[in-house]
Amino acid sequence: MENIWVSGSEGQLGSEIESSNHKCIGNFFFTKQEEVDITEKIQIENYIKLKNIDLIINCAAYTAVDKAEEEIEIAYKVNSLAIRNLVEICKKYKCKLIHISTDFVYGDTYLSPINELTKTSPKSVYAKSKLDGERHIINSKIDSVIIRTSWLYSKFGNNFVKTILQLSKKKETISVVNDQYGTPTYTKDLVEICLEFIKTNKENINGQEIYNYSNEGICSWYEFACEIINLSKLISLIVPISSKEFCTLAKRPAYSVLDKDKIKKKLSIEIPFWKDSLSLCIKELIK
Ligand SMILES: NC(=O)c1ccc[n+]([C@@H]2O[C@H](COP(=O)([O-])OP(=O)(O)OC[C@H]3O[C@@H](n4cnc5c(N)ncnc54)[C@H](OP(=O)(O)O)[C@@H]3O)[C@@H](O)[C@H]2O)c1
Repeated sequence: MENIWVSGSEGQLGSEIESSNHKCIGNFFFTKQEEVDITEKIQIENYIKLKNIDLIINCAAYTAVDKAEEEIEIAYKVNSLAIRNLVEICKKYKCKLIHISTDFVYGDTYLSPINELTKTSPKSVYAKSKLDGERHIINSKIDSVIIRTSWLYSKFGNNFVKTILQLSKKKETISVVNDQYGTPTYTKDLVEICLEFIKTNKENINGQEIYNYSNEGICSWYEFACEIINLSKLISLIVPISSKEFCTLAKRPAYSVLDKDKIKKKLSIEIPFWKDSLSLCIKELIK
C-alpha cells in the first residue's frame, strides 16, 4: 500500500478526509500546521523521509479571501511559495501530488460553465496567490492533479452553511447577495474524488492535469442560503441584496459555474446535485 500524506489536516477538507473511509486505499498520515508547516521546506522534507511518502494531498492553504487583501505576504507565502517547496521535495523524492485550487482563478464574467481551457483572470490576492501556486506545480513537471473547486462546505471548520445556521439563531432576517452565481461543493463529495484519483493513480496521476470539480447545478449565494434555511426547517427570512450593497475587500467573480466534463469522463463518475449533497450535510450537522 502507498503512503499518503494529508497536509493541513485540521481544515474542512483535511478533516473530511481524516473521517472518511480511506484505510483500505492506503496508509494515510495527517498533519496540522503545528506539526508540519508547509512554508518550512525542511519540515516537509523531514516528514516525507520519515514516513516514506508516495503521494501528498495538499489541503493546507491560506483561505481568508478578504483578509488576504491586507495580508498579501502571508497569502503568497502559504498559497504560492509553500507550493514551490512542496513540488521541489516531490521532485526530489518522486512523490505525486493532489493539490486543491479555486474557481476564483476564473475572474472574468462568463455566461456559461467554464472549462479548464478558459483563460485565467484572478481578481483578488487570494485568487492570484492560488494561481501562482498552480504554476509552480505545472512548471515542475511532477506527476500531479490540480482540482479547482468552488464554495466548499462541510460539517468541519468554518463555512457559509454554518454561518447561515448560526446567524439564523440570532437574526430574523439575513441579507445575502443575489448576483454572484456558482455551485456549492460538499467536502464529502470532493473527498471521494481525491480517493478515486489515489485508487487509479498509476493511470490517472501521470503528468500534470487540471480538473474542475463542484457539485452539479447552479445557484446564487441567496438561493444557497434559502435552501440551507429550508432544509434546516428554520424560520429566518433571507433577503436578496446586490454585491454593491454588500461590500467586501476582495472582488469575487459574478459567475464561476464550473464545467466538469473533463473529470466526469476521466473518472467515469456522476456528480451529485448540490441540493442533494447539502441535504446530507444539514442532516449531519443537525445530528
Ligand atoms: N473554502 C472554500 O470555499 C474553498 C473554495 C474553493 C477552493 N478552496 C480550496 O480548497 C482547499 C481546502 O480548503 P478548506 O476550506 O478545507 O480550507 P481551510 O478549512 O481554511 O483549511 C486550511 C488548512 O490549512 C492550514 N494551514 C494554513 N497555513 C498552513 C501552513 N503554512 N502549513 C500547514 N498548514 C497550513 C490551516 O491551519 P490553521 O487553521 O491552523 O491556519 C487549515 O487547517 C484550499 O486549497 C482552498 O484554497 C476552498
